[in-house]
Amino acid sequence: MELLPDPELADLPAPARDAAAVPIDVLVMGAGAVGCFVGGSLAGQGVRVMFVGRPRMLEALALNGIRLSDLDGNQRRVSPAALALADHVPPGVAPTLVLLTVKSGATVDAAAELGSVLPPGTHVVSLQNGICNVDLAAKAAPSLRVLRGMVPFNVAELAPGLFHRGTSGRIVVQRSRALRPWLGVFARAGVPLDLRSDMNGVQWGKLLLNLNNPVNALSGLPLRAELMDAGYRRCLAALMDEALAALDAAFIAPSRLSPLPARLVPAVLRLPTPLFKLVAARMLRIDAEARSSMADDLAAGRRTEIDALCGEVVRLAEANDLKAPVNARMIELVERWPESPHPLSARQLKAALQLG
Ligand SMILES: NC(=O)c1ccc[n+]([C@@H]2O[C@H](COP(=O)([O-])OP(=O)(O)OC[C@H]3O[C@@H](n4cnc5c(N)ncnc54)[C@H](OP(=O)(O)O)[C@@H]3O)[C@@H](O)[C@H]2O)c1
Repeated sequence: MELLPDPELADLPAPARDAAAVPIDVLVMGAGAVGCFVGGSLAGQGVRVMFVGRPRMLEALALNGIRLSDLDGNQRRVSPAALALADHVPPGVAPTLVLLTVKSGATVDAAAELGSVLPPGTHVVSLQNGICNVDLAAKAAPSLRVLRGMVPFNVAELAPGLFHRGTSGRIVVQRSRALRPWLGVFARAGVPLDLRSDMNGVQWGKLLLNLNNPVNALSGLPLRAELMDAGYRRCLAALMDEALAALDAAFIAPSRLSPLPARLVPAVLRLPTPLFKLVAARMLRIDAEARSSMADDLAAGRRTEIDALCGEVVRLAEANDLKAPVNARMIELVERWPESPHPLSARQLKAALQLG
């Protein structure tokens, strides 16, 4: 597949290409795990996708293209020639759709850059975790139409340009007429979209599950191994209890995104492991090596999204005259981790979170 009309253009190092001259359909703002998986899936179907990212990533994509794999054993490859790459949003581009796929701490800068270049009214779908990214992006880029999205599956970059989906699920996006023409395209690309109106509940439902990210990151274990340990599950259950109490107080109903209703999950997490394995069998359909991306962030010394997860719980609790001390302690633990970067056993983590 060749998306760049001039073959000579494809041979140039990615950031030097005259990206503005390339007609594109979709712009991925933040070429990383999610952006490359979803954008690469679309590019594999002939959609003209531009990836805006950091030099390290652009060099890897220019060299290797994008390779995609998933837990069902599917593998796909998109050649470098089929990818439009840029280190900034080039003036003059007019994508029909933008996927915002930076981490929460980078939202404001990324959205401001999009807003300063793209035609007013361009639709931007935030595929980020957390609750506030869409509001932050809309404020930083008031001329754009920012929509909420939620990616239920885990993606990891296993090698430069190799992105692996370690769990399954359908992407959920805020209902919008502008997205209807895209439904077939995303479905054919293997990343189907569900349009929903109750995105606040969907995002809180995802946040509840994402409370496992710091537990997983601090455990130093793959997700599956961590969830098979009753002690780590107990820590996650305590984080979720506080979030559920705050949601109740705020009259927010979190959507059911796992086989179990959100409210039952803490009780299931507290079951003895053999019983947990039976009840949560579908929840445990995870690649043996999959980890949360927060583990990668800690390992690489990058800023984490802890404030967009546990921080949201603490703020929602406080806004409703409650406290969320376990989530507050988890924020401290993650922020202090670089001072002593060693995994915590389940017993150590329970003690640090002051769980009996
Ligand atoms: N990975 C997953 O499994 C997963 C699943 C569901 C949802 N999510 C959510 O999806 C979002 C993205 O996560 P991710 O794991 O894909 O993150 P990621 O791998 O870190 O990818 C984001 C990339 O965007 C780059 N970036 C940041 N600001 C930029 C800018 N202004 N211009 C160009 N590039 C920029 C980042 O570079 P720097 O690192 O230098 O900033 C990074 O390379 C997060 O909110 C995450 O919680 C992730």
